[in-house]
Amino acid sequence: MTTTVNSTQKWTQLNIDQKIGLVPTMGALHQGHMSLIHQSKKENDITVVSIFVNPTQFNKKQDLKSYPKDLERDLALLCKAKVDYLFAPDYDALYPYNYRYKVSDCKMAKILCGANRPGHFDGVLSVVMKLLNIIKPTNAYFGEKDYQQYILIKDMVQAFFMDVNIIPCPTVREVSGLAMSSRNLLLTPEQLEVASSFYHHLKADASIEEIKTKLTEQGFVVDYIEEHFGRRFGAIHYANVRLIDNVEV
Ligand code: PAF
Repeated sequence: MTTTVNSTQKWTQLNIDQKIGLVPTMGALHQGHMSLIHQSKKENDITVVSIFVNPTQFNKKQDLKSYPKDLERDLALLCKAKVDYLFAPDYDALYPYNYRYKVSDCKMAKILCGANRPGHFDGVLSVVMKLLNIIKPTNAYFGEKDYQQYILIKDMVQAFFMDVNIIPCPTVREVSGLAMSSRNLLLTPEQLEVASSFYHHLKADASIEEIKTKLTEQGFVVDYIEEHFGRRFGAIHYANVRLIDNVEV
């Protein structure tokens, strides 16, 4: 595990001829992350994972504070998966100029999660740009659960002529259908069971209004249900936890 940007850049330089796969994460790893790691291991010589709970993408202090963290368990999972390099910087290492510079999308970052979480995608794009510049991967892997994030990152690297492939990976689900998410750790087993109906309502053959009504009746607070890019996106609050998902339509 390395925490400094300097030694990671030196390591990147030493491995300049290798095909590097990067899996950026905020830790509290689950099977969704592990599937990104497995895909990276198949497609690259070296797999790098980053763990950094990025404060600039949280628009609520309490959300950042309660975000699940378990570095010891993460390390054990990464060792077992034979990940080659873990980059786990702290805020000062990754933000030497604090948040003086940021990457903003002026269009797509304002809809869906961007509309409800002001500044969220500025934080995501800024930190991902930093990670890509430090690690210089050939391929970087992102889960389709965060589909809007995936599109924004894909467009950013094209807009800034960055030499990296952004690879989307399918959402991994619990047997119940609930999309795997680090935030699921904040729910009890009973709440997880209730939360799993979010996915089933989202993919039902019903109108957006009908889905919203059903979700509200079940005690979820709906942020949005909307269709874009051939997908139906949803975000809800349940037991003080924000859950997102999307399905093809
Ligand atoms: O999807 C996430 O976990 C985060 O948004 C990411 C891409 C690691 C950036 O902090």
